[in-house]
Amino acid sequence: MSDNDAAVAYGNYLKIDELLSLQHPRSEGPEHDEMLFIVIHQVYELWFKELLHELDRVRTLLEQDEPHRVQHTLKRVLTILKVMVAQLDILETMTPLEFLTFRQRLEAASGFQSDQFRQLEFTLGIKSEHAIARFQPGTRARAALERRYREPTVWDAFLHYLAREGYTVPPAHLHRDPTVPVEPSPDIQTILVELYRHDTKNAELCERLVDLDEGVQEWRYRHVKMVERTIGTKRGTGGSSGAAYLRTTLAQPIFPDLWEIRALL
Ligand code: HEM
Repeated sequence: MSDNDAAVAYGNYLKIDELLSLQHPRSEGPEHDEMLFIVIHQVYELWFKELLHELDRVRTLLEQDEPHRVQHTLKRVLTILKVMVAQLDILETMTPLEFLTFRQRLEAASGFQSDQFRQLEFTLGIKSEHAIARFQPGTRARAALERRYREPTVWDAFLHYLAREGYTVPPAHLHRDPTVPVEPSPDIQTILVELYRHDTKNAELCERLVDLDEGVQEWRYRHVKMVERTIGTKRGTGGSSGAAYLRTTLAQPIFPDLWEIRALL
């Protein structure tokens, strides 16, 4: 195969021409920093896609009673999350004034409208009907969100797995409405304390879920700090109060029971 053929295969397989044609700055000139802003958001959307792909795998592997493979997949998820947090450093090289050179051209566009981010939240158990209503009926985003809203979360799959491992998970938890956000439960905490004391394999698995939870919280924290240093107390382009709104999302654990039990051990 000649170098030329290899290049054609690479480009065809990865759709490089299409990929490189997807960055369209809106500012006049265009302003230099807008390219970074577009590229980094597109990169995040690709990582969101990959995370959803891997979390679907985590759920399936839990359903198939494959705890070691679940841990393996969670390790990949965590590694991606770390890269996602680190990537915020790149955007922080953009000063407030550089951002202002094109900010008004974003109009109402905001990460607020990332359906894949909401899909991730839904898959992890942070469900909100209100969040679905922001997306137009009939769009890909709306359909994907409605589907994930009704689907069991990673935590639901984990509780079913624990029941099959012999833990007496109350039926109310196994047959709960998956559209309701996951709330802390003293019954589940009692099971988890027992598990942490006597079941190393599953305790390790729980620790990887805590890593995942902490990783998402870390991303939220770094994002709000970046927002504070870039736009301060200004409102967001998506219409929220900006950093003040984002700070309300910080103390929102994904798996609250796994945090509650620390004090009980
Ligand atoms: C200069 C860079 C950025 C600024 C100033 C910024 C600002 C904001 C603000 C103010 C909000 C609150 C919603 C609103 O009213 O707009 C928000 C939400 C959000 N942003 Fe950013 N952002 C930036 C970069 C990014 C990047 C690179 C991503 C990656 C995809 C991102 C993802 C999100 C997400 C997912 C939300 C919704 C968070 C939630 O509702 O919990 N942002 N952003």
